[in-house]
Amino acid sequence: MKHPVIIVNFKAYREVEGDRAVRLSRLIQKVSTENGVPMAVCPPHLSLGVVARMLEIPVYAQSVDPLPPGPGTGYVTPSMLHCTDVRGTLVNHSEHRMPREDVGRAVEMCRDVGLDVCVCAEDTAEAASMAEFHPAMIAVEPPGLIGGDVSVTTADPAIVSGTVDAVIAVDPEIAVYCGAGVKTGDDVRTAMDLGAHGVLLASGVVKAKDPEAVLRDLISKI
Ligand code: G3P
Repeated sequence: MKHPVIIVNFKAYREVEGDRAVRLSRLIQKVSTENGVPMAVCPPHLSLGVVARMLEIPVYAQSVDPLPPGPGTGYVTPSMLHCTDVRGTLVNHSEHRMPREDVGRAVEMCRDVGLDVCVCAEDTAEAASMAEFHPAMIAVEPPGLIGGDVSVTTADPAIVSGTVDAVIAVDPEIAVYCGAGVKTGDDVRTAMDLGAHGVLLASGVVKAKDPEAVLRDLISKI
């Protein structure tokens, strides 16, 4: 199954509360479909079911709790996600970190119900370590650049190319992404030239005055 090139993580911004997550998801699908560029969305948990039933493009959760069905108050399990038509989930985002053993359990439990996992890592060493769980995707995101105006592809291109090399040395089937500060079509082009399959981004789209214009620029150099 072809992995997306651009994954938009909605996070918990005010701009994606309630129906706004649905409206943004529809816009991202429109730009993706009109231009034939595979894109995906990661809406907040509360919008996940509605968005996943509505969209054709892949929908991912922002996190999952590696628990079986049962007495777990307030958790979101792989089994629940499996019932909501999502493609998969992010895991271990730097804003929602998990112990390494929980990451491994989450990857295994999601794989058992046919869900793709994109494991987030803060640096090349963590990415290589997480590759030993053989997730579908790994995204390297230096925390200090997240939410900023300087793209990881400009600030630290070596972390992108180095992570690609380190991850595929463990498992060449893993799709490697980079994220943090990615805002433009040049950033996306550079990420792909450095060997990444695609990018994981948030504020450049979610907080944009004109998200459609940003989306069209992001895919303009692919
Ligand atoms: O998950 C992607 C996110 O952490 C990157 O954030 O705002 O720098 O695109 P941003």
